[in-house]
Formats: sequence, structure tokens, C-alpha cells
Amino acid sequence: MSLIGNIEDFPDNSTHGMHSAGLALLIVRRAGELYIYENNCPHTRETLDPEGGSLAVSGGLLIQCQRHSAEFIAETGECVAGPCQGEALTAIPFTLSGSDIYLD
Ligand code: FES
Repeated sequence: MSLIGNIEDFPDNSTHGMHSAGLALLIVRRAGELYIYENNCPHTRETLDPEGGSLAVSGGLLIQCQRHSAEFIAETGECVAGPCQGEALTAIPFTLSGSDIYLD
């Protein structure tokens, strides 16, 4: 397992792109919970955040790709609007140990 950070490093209702273990990751906080996805949009298989910054919209309910505006449910990764509607982000399994985040 590789340590990627502390949950307190990631503000609620926001997303954060990072690289770890050779993977482009999207760290998502939503309503206090943590979700991790591959930072790989199902539309073109490129990262969702070429401009950087958080992708959270609608108060953190949704994640919006910066390339062509696909929208994903933060808690499931399901695409609900845009060119890849019906597809989903790939969830990355992780373990929280206290407030430390480890990829499985
Ligand atoms: S690359 Fe994400 S919507 Fe087109």
C-alpha cells in the first residue's frame, strides 16, 4: 500500500488531481467522504483537469471535466451529462488508516 496523503489535506466538496504509483488520480471529497478515481475521462481517455484546480460543481455534488464539460456524480463516478453519459470514472480502491490515505 502506498501513502498518498492525509484526508485533511483535501478540502470538502472539492477535487484534487495528483500522481501516485504511476497513476493519474482524482481525489474527491464530498460531504466529508473520500472517493478516489482514475483521472481519466471516459470520453477521450485524457485527464479531466488540464487547467488544474478543483472540478467540483453544484456544491460538490458533481465533477465537471474541463475538456468538454461531462458531469459525473462525485460519490459514484457515473457520468450523467455530456459526451460520455452512461459511462463512469474508474474507482481506485484505498484504505483510510486514521486520517492517512493508502492506495490498496
Ligand atoms: S475529455 Fe472529458 S468530456 Fe471530453
